[in-house]
Amino acid sequence: MLNDIQEVLYDADQIQQKVQELGETISREFEGRNPLVICVLKGAFIFMADLVKAVTIPLEIDFMAVSSYGQSTKTSGVVKIIKDLDASVQGRDVLIVEDIIDSGLTLSYLIDVLERRSAKSITLVTLFDKPTGRKVELEADYKGFVLPDAFVVGYGLDYAERYRNLPIIGILKPEVYEK
Ligand code: PRP
Ligand code: MN
Ligand code: MG
Repeated sequence: MLNDIQEVLYDADQIQQKVQELGETISREFEGRNPLVICVLKGAFIFMADLVKAVTIPLEIDFMAVSSYGQSTKTSGVVKIIKDLDASVQGRDVLIVEDIIDSGLTLSYLIDVLERRSAKSITLVTLFDKPTGRKVELEADYKGFVLPDAFVVGYGLDYAERYRNLPIIGILKPEVYEK
């Protein structure tokens, strides 16, 4: 798996340190608010698990699965809900946990859905941000690392469902998907 990686951008220790910092910030921000923390499956599952362990205040978790990339390295532009939330977001302080914001289409769609369901507030945290990919204006409230304009995998992020279990984030060798 690692031999399909052209360049490691951040290793496991660097990621854990950043996740710890984000956890501390979120603990302060949501003190006394019992946030509903929403993991955007599948990509965010590893970040979600590490992040909530770094948060020291009470919270609730839920999961939503959406996808727009499928088997491709480019977004289809159409976001599909594959699994919806169990909980109601009405009147809740919601924290959306994403692995990466690229075009912004996934999150702008999700924010729209949660606003229509009358969330009290919506806050966005993403571990990785690729601002050069934006197709819609969207900024995370909290972010970990800004990434270059390259197709990255690992720490939850896939190419055709592979590489999610790499503990690092790295640039995938183009020959892997240009075949
Ligand atoms: C990836 C990633 C984000 C989204 C970001 O998910 O996990 O959710 O794309 O891209 P965008 O800002 O251009 O919308 P994907 O659709 O690949 O589904 P997955 O999480 O199941 O891999
Ligand atoms: Mn995703
Ligand atoms: Mg994906």
